[in-house]
Amino acid sequence: MHYMANIRKLRRSIPLNGRGGMGKHGSSAARRQALLLACTLVVTLPAVAATVPPGEKVAQGSNCFSCHAVSHKVVGPAFAAVAKRFAHQPGAKAMLIHAVKYGHVGTWGDIPMPPHPDLTNEQLNEVVSWVLSISPAAEKTAAAPAKTYTYTVNGKKVALDFPVYKPGTKKVTPTVFRGYELYNSYCFRCHGEDAMGSEYAPDLRTVIKNGMTVQQMTQIAMTGIKAKGMPSWAGFFSPKDLNAIYQYIAGRTYHLVPQGIPPE
Ligand code: HEC
Ligand code: HEC
Repeated sequence: MHYMANIRKLRRSIPLNGRGGMGKHGSSAARRQALLLACTLVVTLPAVAATVPPGEKVAQGSNCFSCHAVSHKVVGPAFAAVAKRFAHQPGAKAMLIHAVKYGHVGTWGDIPMPPHPDLTNEQLNEVVSWVLSISPAAEKTAAAPAKTYTYTVNGKKVALDFPVYKPGTKKVTPTVFRGYELYNSYCFRCHGEDAMGSEYAPDLRTVIKNGMTVQQMTQIAMTGIKAKGMPSWAGFFSPKDLNAIYQYIAGRTYHLVPQGIPPE
């Protein structure tokens, strides 16, 4: 069941890796990345099988964790918040099964959840039962105040809420480096190599300069803008991957990260 979903994901990744080609830099790193992605999808399955409830396994095998987390809002609401809201409502289960199967919008905001026509009724029942079984206490609301990292570039100060470099060096953090690898494997063919923009899609440096947050970028990347040719990456990337991509592009935006392979 979720095994099929993983095979589907692998299939989806093949044209992305093969057809688009790699950036002119770091192609072996990118290929290594793609292979790693492919391997972990398959290899981690037996390890989790013993302890994870069936509904959570359905969620892992589908695309749920691209947009949801148990404890906090990502693109969609925290699963703990869903459990809290519908805990004692008769008929909630059937209503939520319907929402996941056919897609939904309007209860939590104006971002739509896509439909999941590939899940069987049994899988839908399992995954929604699991969501409803989550303790409402698992929700975390108080976000820690963000730390600020200030850099001076060409006499101008840039303040970010994440570090671009390892402390005391000009070498990028592992997160920024991973963002470079992912961006130049998957985003570059439309948004331009090294986040330089292209004729196919907007220059994401300008988009960040104009104020797009990591939450907003994650939402657009997971939802996609299908009518305009921007794919949905739900089921392929985690929010952590999108965070890394965002940090890399922000580094490029403020001239903190050079073109090509960043110093590691
Ligand atoms: C592309 C992002 C995305 C994906 C993928 C996604 N969701 Fe959602 N989900 C959302 C959003 C956004 C909402 C809020 C919809 C609304 O306001 O009605 C939501 C709402 C929900 C709700 C509450 C529905 C309601 O009526 O209140 C449940 C339950 C849920 N999702 C479960 C899942 C499960 C299970 C999966 C995987 C099979 C999944 N979601 C995949 C974005 C997503
Ligand atoms: C197949 C081509 C293609 C790929 C690959 C692609 N995008 Fe896009 N993307 C687009 C297009 C086209 C648009 C503009 C859509 C529009 O006009 O509304 C876009 C828009 C966006 C936007 C919104 C920009 C704005 O102006 O608000 C973001 C954010 C974005 N893409 C991020 C990404 C990320 C991150 C990746 C890699 C994971 C990626 N895209 C991969 C084609 C692509």
